[in-house]
Amino acid sequence: MRNIVSFNDNWKFIKNAADEVEAAKGEGESIALPHTWNAVDGQDGGNDYHRGTCWYVKKFAKPEKNETDKAYLEFCGAAMTAEIYLNGEKISRHEGGYSTFRVEITERLEEENTLVVSVDNSNNTTVYPQTADFTFYGGLYRDVNLIIVPETHFELAYCGSQGIKVTPVVNLEEKKAVVTVEAWVCGDADMVTFEVNQEKINASLEDGRAKAEFVIENVHLWDGVDDPYLYTAKAFMENGDIVSTRFGCRKYYIDPQKGFFLNGHPYLLRGVSRHQDFKGVGNALTIEHHKKDMEIIKEIGATTLRLAHYQHAQEFYDLCDENGLIVWAEIPYITMHMKNGRANTLSQMEELVVQNYNHPSIICWGLSNEITAASAVDDDLLENHRLLNNLCHRLDSTRLTTMANVFMLETDSPILEIPDINSYNLYFGWYLGELEQNDEFFDEYHEKYPDRVIGFSEYGADANPQYQAAVPEKGDYTESYQAVYHEHILQMIEKRPWLWATHVWNLFDFAADGRDEGGKHGENQKGLVTIDRKTKKDAFYLYKAAWNKKEPFVHLCGKRYVDRTEDVTEVKVYSNQSKITLVVDGKEFETQTGKTIFKFNVPISGEHKITAIADSCTDSITVKKVEEENQDYIFIKRSPVTNWFDADELDPECFSINDKLAEIKANPKAGAIIDEMMAKGASDRGDVADAVKDNPGLQRMMGRMTLISLLKQSGADDESIKQVNRILQGIKKEN
Ligand code: GCU
Repeated sequence: MRNIVSFNDNWKFIKNAADEVEAAKGEGESIALPHTWNAVDGQDGGNDYHRGTCWYVKKFAKPEKNETDKAYLEFCGAAMTAEIYLNGEKISRHEGGYSTFRVEITERLEEENTLVVSVDNSNNTTVYPQTADFTFYGGLYRDVNLIIVPETHFELAYCGSQGIKVTPVVNLEEKKAVVTVEAWVCGDADMVTFEVNQEKINASLEDGRAKAEFVIENVHLWDGVDDPYLYTAKAFMENGDIVSTRFGCRKYYIDPQKGFFLNGHPYLLRGVSRHQDFKGVGNALTIEHHKKDMEIIKEIGATTLRLAHYQHAQEFYDLCDENGLIVWAEIPYITMHMKNGRANTLSQMEELVVQNYNHPSIICWGLSNEITAASAVDDDLLENHRLLNNLCHRLDSTRLTTMANVFMLETDSPILEIPDINSYNLYFGWYLGELEQNDEFFDEYHEKYPDRVIGFSEYGADANPQYQAAVPEKGDYTESYQAVYHEHILQMIEKRPWLWATHVWNLFDFAADGRDEGGKHGENQKGLVTIDRKTKKDAFYLYKAAWNKKEPFVHLCGKRYVDRTEDVTEVKVYSNQSKITLVVDGKEFETQTGKTIFKFNVPISGEHKITAIADSCTDSITVKKVEEENQDYIFIKRSPVTNWFDADELDPECFSINDKLAEIKANPKAGAIIDEMMAKGASDRGDVADAVKDNPGLQRMMGRMTLISLLKQSGADDESIKQVNRILQGIKKEN
C-alpha cells in the first residue's frame, strides 16, 4: 500500500534569504500550506506586489517505512519556479507555477531532515506567464505531500502523472464503451491487475507498462450536468501498491454549423470563466473555496467552464467531473510570445495533459490566450503553436486543441489554422466600439468560414456594485451597464447555436494588481460575482434566469439603486419563470408574461416597496424618489472624455471625434488628419500599427468605430483627444 502524508503543517516562511544555507536556519514566520506571500499585496493595487525568490523550510523526522520502500515529495503547486533542497543538497528544480511535480528522496533521508524550498515569481523571459491581466501570486499555494510506496510502485516521477491512464471509447448505437486502461510501473514486477466496473483483468508488464481493455455494456454515460456518471478504474500489484482514478464515458463532436454535441444530442455550451483566487487568501485556496465556486457555478446554470489561464487544482477538475461541467483547460502561454519560452510552453502543456487526461469534464486543451496581442504572427510564434498542437495530439488523441484569440487578430491569420477549433475574446461595447459589433464579428467570420468551428472565449464589462445609473453607459463601471451589456450578449449568443462555446469573462472578480479603476484598486471587476463571493451582481441573475432550469426564482434588479431621480423608473426583473406580477406598496401594479427579462415602468414619488412575484418566488426592493443624484453611485474617476463632447457642444455640420472612423477617413481633408495621427501613433507604439495597416479585417472593424472609442482604446490622453476634435470641428462635412 502507498502511504500519503500531508506535509502542509509546520513550515517556516522566510521572505528574504541569501541562499539555502541562510534559509535553512529556519528563522521565519510559522505558516501552514497552502500559502502565498501575495495574499494582500497582490490584491491591493499599485502593481507593486512582491515578486522575487522566497523560502520555505520544514524540518521532519525520518518517516516510518519498510527498508525497501521508496519516498517521494509531491508539490501540487509552487509558483512559479521552485528549487528543492534536502539536507543541504539541491535535488530538483521545476519551472511552471500550476502543475504537480514530484521528487524521490529515499536515498537522501536522514534521521532528522531539513527540507528547503525556494520559490520564485520574479520577472523573467523563459517561464510563462509574464505579461497578463492577473496577479502572478508566488508561493507554495497548494498541498505538499510525502508519499511512501513499495520498492516496486506505479509511476510517480514522470510529469507528475497518476501512473494510470483511462481511455473510454463510446459506441452510442451499441450502448457500450470499450475502456482501455494503462499503467506504468517503476521497479521489478511481472503483472498488474486492473479493475473496472467489478471486472478484473490481469495484464503482463512490458517495459514497465501494462494495458487492459474492458467492455462496458449498457454503459452509463457521463452526460453533462444532467447525469455526470463516473466509473472508477483501479490498478494494483501483488505487493499492495494501488492507484485508482475516476473516469466518464462520453462522446462529443462539434459541428461548425450546429455547435457542440454530447453523446449524440445537441448540448449548448454556455458558461463562464474562472480564475483561482479569493479575496484575502490570494490563490492559496482550500477545498472549501473550490466547493464554494462550484456551488455558484451550479446556481448560475453554466454547462461549460473555461479554467483560465493556467492548470487549475486537481480538486477543481474533480468537482467539474462530479458536476458535469464541460471544461476548457489551458496553459499560461499568454499575451506576449517569448522567444526563450518555447520549452516552458511545451513542458507546461505536457504536464497539463498527462496530469488531467482522465477527467471526463475536459474536452479541449487551450494552446494560448491572446498571444498576438503584443507579438507579431511570425515563424517562431507559429512553430511554437504547431509544436504545442502536435504535442497535445501525441499525448491525447481523444481531445481537441483550441485557442483564445484577441479581437485584433485578422481572421485570415495562418495561426487560426493550427488548433482544431478556435474562439475569440471580444470586448466591443466595453473597451471599444459598440455592442452590435460582437454580432457583426461572428456573423462575418461564420459567413466567411462556414466550415470552421468558432466560439466566444471571453466577453465582459467591469462593474462595481456600488455604482448605479438610470441611463447606464459604456465605461461607467455601473452594475446597471454591466447588466445592459450582458442582456445584449445573451440574446446574441442565444441566436447563434453554432458558437461552439461561450464563456463570460469572468464569473468572479479577480486580482490584477496593476489595475486601478472602477473605484477598486488591484481588481478586474468583470465578474458577475465579487472577489469575496459575497455579492452577486444583477448580471449574474440574468444568466441564472436564462440557464438555470432547476431552481425557480425571481430577481429584482437595482437593489443597490435606492435613490432615484427619475419620476418614472424602470424596474427590471430577471426570472426563469414566465409570468411576473409586480406589486408596488402592496398594490398589484402590473403582470407580464415573457422570458428571462421583464421591464416595468413605475412612477415614483416617495419611498416605495416593490415586490416581484412569480408563483411562490418573490423578491423585493425599496426605492426612494430624490431630487439630487446620489454621488455614491457615480464612478468619479470616470475619464472626462466620455462626457466632454455632448452633441449640443459640437457643430453637427463638421466632423468630430464622435463620428465613425470610416466616415472621417472618407473625407480627404479629415482623412489626412487621421492618417497623420495614426502614423504618429504608430511610431510611438512600434509594430502594432503594422498590425493595423496590414490587416484589412481590423481596418474594417475599426472603420465602424467612433474615433473617440479608438482614441480611448489607444490610451490617448485627454489633451490630444481635445486637439483632434478641435481640428475636425474645423472641417465641414460634405452634403
Ligand atoms: C483579455 C485577457 C484577460 C483579461 C481580459 C480583460 O481578454 O484574456 O486575461 O482579464 O482581457 O481585459 O478583462
